[in-house]
Amino acid sequence: TPRPAASAPHIVITAGPTREPLDPVRYLSNHSSGKMGFALAAAAALEGANVTLISGPVELPTPKGVTRIDVESAEQMHAETQRLAPRAALFIGCAAVADYRAAAPAEHKLKKQETGDTLTLTLVKNPDIIASVAALPAEQRPLVVGFAAETQDIERYARDKLQRKGLDMIVANDVSLAGLGFGSDQNAAWLLWRTPQGVESRSEAPQPKTQLAGTIIRQALALLATQTAEK
Ligand code: PMT
Repeated sequence: TPRPAASAPHIVITAGPTREPLDPVRYLSNHSSGKMGFALAAAAALEGANVTLISGPVELPTPKGVTRIDVESAEQMHAETQRLAPRAALFIGCAAVADYRAAAPAEHKLKKQETGDTLTLTLVKNPDIIASVAALPAEQRPLVVGFAAETQDIERYARDKLQRKGLDMIVANDVSLAGLGFGSDQNAAWLLWRTPQGVESRSEAPQPKTQLAGTIIRQALALLATQTAEK
């Protein structure tokens, strides 16, 4: 494995789902497998970067040359991100973070109620991890690349999310197509990034996540190089 040079950029990547506890034996989560985020970490290490991967619970081996930090909940992912992102050159949020968590996870296993057929859970909003990185003061703020999981009007919603979350680049994947997105080995995406002239974009046809990851990393590093040159 080539060791990153001392001047290699530090890249922090989040991957996988988060798990939001309801009680000691139950949780809310989603179908993210971590494959896209782990492929990004592997591709970034191959480009010679110094890579830290903050991962939710997944069943994947750590890519060669990558430092991995395991977390479960969105709040834990947020805390690790806040610790590491201010020292990074590039932050990529590929994790499928739960937007909500239980307001008060039960200390003991929830019992089935004797009466009534419904159970009401109260959820509260989780922190928006990537928006908090994008909002860091200029001298601490890495280049910020987000993902968008969309089921319709992919490019329009991605443009909107790029602006609203204050990102530098966004990778929008269509998660409505069978065999792409969550859990699969293949993905297709729109890449959109900001330039002084406006937003540029390119579309990537269905391909292995490992291959798409290389394209995303090279595009992000090129953007980083132009921003560094402008400073
Ligand atoms: O893991 P795989 O099985 O390989 O699947 C890959 C993927 C489909 C999960 C991945 O490619 C992807 O799209 N990840 C983002 C999924 C998502 O949560 O999208 P979103 O549109 O809800 O969120 C937009 C962005 O905000 C994302 O960068 C997300 O990481 C970030 N976010 C969202 C909520 C939150 N509380 N904090 C965040 O940082």
